[in-house]
Amino acid sequence: MTKQFHDTVLSDEAIAQLFNEARSYNGWLDKPVSDEQVHAIWDLVKMAPTSANMQPARIVWVKSAEEKAKLAECVMSGNKEKILAAPVTAVIGFDIDYHEELPWLFPHTDAKSWFDGNEPLREESALRNSSLQGAYIMLAARALGLDCGPMSGFDPAAVNAAFFADEPRHRVNFLCSIGYGDPTSVFDRSPRPDFDRFNTLV
Ligand SMILES: Cc1cc2nc3c(=O)[nH]c(=O)nc-3n(C[C@H](O)[C@H](O)[C@H](O)COP(=O)(O)O)c2cc1C
Repeated sequence: MTKQFHDTVLSDEAIAQLFNEARSYNGWLDKPVSDEQVHAIWDLVKMAPTSANMQPARIVWVKSAEEKAKLAECVMSGNKEKILAAPVTAVIGFDIDYHEELPWLFPHTDAKSWFDGNEPLREESALRNSSLQGAYIMLAARALGLDCGPMSGFDPAAVNAAFFADEPRHRVNFLCSIGYGDPTSVFDRSPRPDFDRFNTLV
C-alpha cells in the first residue's frame, strides 16, 4: 500500500528551512561536507519524479582542492572564489543518451523506443529533467541542513572538457555549491512577485 501524507503539512519551521528562510549563498563557513552527506542528498534526489523515470542527470561532486581549482578555471570571475571556498560543488550535467538506461529504469513499457533516433527530443527532455533534478538537489540539501549556491556563470565547453571528457554524451546544465552558508555573504532578499503578477487561475 502506498503511504500517503494527505493529512500532514510540514511544520512552519520545516517550510522555512526549505523555502522561506533558505538563501542562495555566496560564501561558506569553514565546515566540511562528508561523502555520506553527498550520498544522502542523492538518495533523496533519486526518489523525486522525472519523465518516464529517465533520471538523465549525471553529477560530478567536486570536493578535492585539485578538482575545485580545475572547475574554478571554467567559471566567470565572480564565481571563482565561491567554488574554491565551497566544501563541495555539484557539476550537474545530463546524458543525451539517457534513453539507453530506460529498459531498467522504466521496466513496465518500452520507453526507450520513444526516444530512439530522436536526439532533439532527447535533448529537450534531458535538459528539462536534469534541471528538475538540480532543483531537487537544492531542496534535498536544505532538507538535510545544508545550504546551496547555484551558478550558471561558467563556460559550458570548458566544463564539459574538464569534467565530461570521457563521456562526450554528457553535457553540463548548471553548478551548485553545497555547504554551510556564511550568513554575511548574502545580499538583501530580492523582491518576490505576488500570485497575481505571474499566475493565472482559470
Ligand atoms: C540556475 C541558477 C543560476 C545562478 N547563477 C548564478 C551565478 O552564476 N552566480 C551567482 O552569484 N549567483 C547565481 N545564482 C543565484 C541567484 O541569483 C539567486 O538564487 C537568486 O537571486 C535568489 O537568491 P535567494 O535564494 O538568496 O533569495 C543562480 C541561481 C540559479 C537558480
